[in-house]
This record gives sequence, structure tokens and C-alpha cells, in this order.
Amino acid sequence: VSDSAHQPPRFLTHLFGWYAMTMLAVGARSGLLDALIAAPGTAEDIARRAGVDPRNALEWLRALTVAGHSTFADGRFALSEETAMAFGPGFPVDARAIVDFADRTGDLLPTVAEAIRSGRGVDSQVYQAAYGTAVARVNSPTYAAALVDEWIGGVPGLADRLSAGGMIADLACGNGDAAAIMGRAFPSARVVGYDIDTALFPTSSLPDNVTLRPGDARSSDPGQQFDVVTCLDSFHHFGDPGKVAEQARSLLNPGGVFLVAESGLSGDLAVDTGNPVALIVCAAGLLYCLQENLAAGGPGFSGGDGPDWLIKALQAAGFRDVQTRDSPTGYRIFTATA
Ligand SMILES: C[S@@+](CC[C@H](N)C(=O)[O-])C[C@H]1O[C@@H](n2cnc3c(N)ncnc32)[C@H](O)[C@@H]1O
Repeated sequence: VSDSAHQPPRFLTHLFGWYAMTMLAVGARSGLLDALIAAPGTAEDIARRAGVDPRNALEWLRALTVAGHSTFADGRFALSEETAMAFGPGFPVDARAIVDFADRTGDLLPTVAEAIRSGRGVDSQVYQAAYGTAVARVNSPTYAAALVDEWIGGVPGLADRLSAGGMIADLACGNGDAAAIMGRAFPSARVVGYDIDTALFPTSSLPDNVTLRPGDARSSDPGQQFDVVTCLDSFHHFGDPGKVAEQARSLLNPGGVFLVAESGLSGDLAVDTGNPVALIVCAAGLLYCLQENLAAGGPGFSGGDGPDWLIKALQAAGFRDVQTRDSPTGYRIFTATA
């Protein structure tokens, strides 16, 4: 049965995709994926390298081959060229982190189903425990590619100001990767990352001009003023967007810039249906962001709502010159002047 001459019905292609992603996830968990990424080999070679049962390795390799992630010739399996590129260095997203994120989301389904019933959301600690570093690892390659040159560079004069020095705060900094990226790009500036949860703060060293501190984006008073405040892929997780906007404004020196990265969806379903990342934004919104927001007592704004709620929150907090621009990364960048 097919809905066109060449395409299986959407339901089936989604089922195929779910199985393929699950194979990658179980390969990541068992060591098979790393063993195959490391080098081609027979099923026995790859099983030995991964330290797993050979019969199970063979079944996994067959599934990976029929999914198109591996090739099979002369008794040897090898990662397909396309998949090797996706898991290799220089790919614009961290495919391995995305597999981990999808895999760990599976563990959360009973909790989320209950939250969908109750409307009470799911506490952020539940997500931290389930996801660990996966969220930060999903986002970091985008920040490495776009945060300095495209996002900060897109605000006239801002990169030059920061090259001469200044103070930057990153609200909800997660593992601090974005703070470290800004610290390295602007060695004369100082960067302070704040997050309500310090569990992801790195144990390895950060650039000398970067520090991470515990801090609630809604209320903490760090006793410092900043020239730039950033908030990346986090605003829609907060319980109280109005309070965070006010807090960001109070942290900024007059003329300072608040830079926010949020989903690039329009909030108009007729438009967003044609956007290939809209499914990820809406589904991850339901499974993660919206639940965190509701559990924190928030109004439940999400990427699927589009930009208006955030523009209004920034304007209500007294920011001037609120602007948005769409980034090729899929984010919408909001800038506002204190
Ligand atoms: C989706 S993660 C994004 C983290 C990081 N900005 C990134 O892009 O990788 C959302 C972050 O918001 C933090 N967070 C949630 N509520 C917060 C609050 N009220 N104050 C500060 N951080 C908060 C969480 O601990 C988490 O690290």
C-alpha cells in the first residue's frame, strides 16, 4: 500500500525511522556503534572490539545495513559514507549527542504521558538526570559555528565593543560551552555563565576570563552589571518569561544588548508545517521544554508559539529596539537594547 507510486505511507516511513534511530541508540549504549565507527570488520571483529556477544552484533549489523547506515561486502561491515560523515568531525551537528538525546527521551515517556494528563509539567531535575550532557552537546556545535560571527557579529558594532573588553553574562548557561566560546572569541572581555543547576558545569578548565556560577535567571542578583546578556535556547523553558526579561534588563548597563536565541518557527501552523525542523521543535517542546516550563509555574510558551510572546515580554520589561532575525541555523535571534 502506498500513497504515491514511489513513497510508502508516512506512517511506515516514520516507523522505519524510529527503528533505525533505535538501532543507533542501542549501538551507542552497547559500544557497537563506536566499534563500527572505529573501523570496518566482520561481525566477529566488531563484536570483539565492542566487547559484546557476536550473535547479537551480527543482528545489529544486519539492521544497520538494511537501514543504510552500514555497507556489507566480502563478509565485512563498514559505516556507510553518509553516516561516517554524520558521525565524523566537522559535521554541523553532533550526531552522537542527538542519538543520546533521542534515546534518553524514550526513558521519559511514562513521566511525560502522566504530565500530559495532569498539566503539571515535569521538574527540570528529572530532565537533568535523564539527559545529562546530551542537550548541551546537541547545541554546542551550533554555538561554535554561529554565536560569535553570525549572532553577535550581526549586531552593528557589538563585536568591536567586546573585542575591546566588557562584561558578558550567559543566563541558563548549561554546561558553559557558549560562555567558553565567547570567552575565547573576546579575550579582553569577561564572561559569567549562570544556571539554576550546576550539575553540568564542567570539571575541566574554562578560559581564564570565563566563570560559571549558580544563579536563577528570574531573580539572582549577581551584584555586577553587564554590557551583553545572552540567553540561548532556554527562554521558553523558564517559568516566568516576564521576570527573566526584567532581570536581564536590570543586569545590563544602559545601552547594553540582550541577545536571545529561540526556535525560528512562526507560530502559524500553515507555515510551520512546511518547515523540516518544526517536528523536532514541536515534539521536543511537548516532551521536554513545555513540561519544564509548566512545572516551573510558567504560562507554557514554546517554540511552536512563534516569537510574539517573547517580543512582548522584552517590550514590557522596558527594552528598546527589539529586533528579530532568522538564522540559517534554524534559530531566531532576538536582540534588544537596555
Ligand atoms: C535547554 S537547556 C539550555 C542550556 C544552554 N543554554 C544550551 O543552550 O546548551 C535549558 C537550561 O536552562 C536552565 N534553567 C532552567 N530554569 C532556569 C532558571 N530559572 N534560571 C537559570 N537557569 C535555568 C536549565 O538548568 C538548563 O541548563
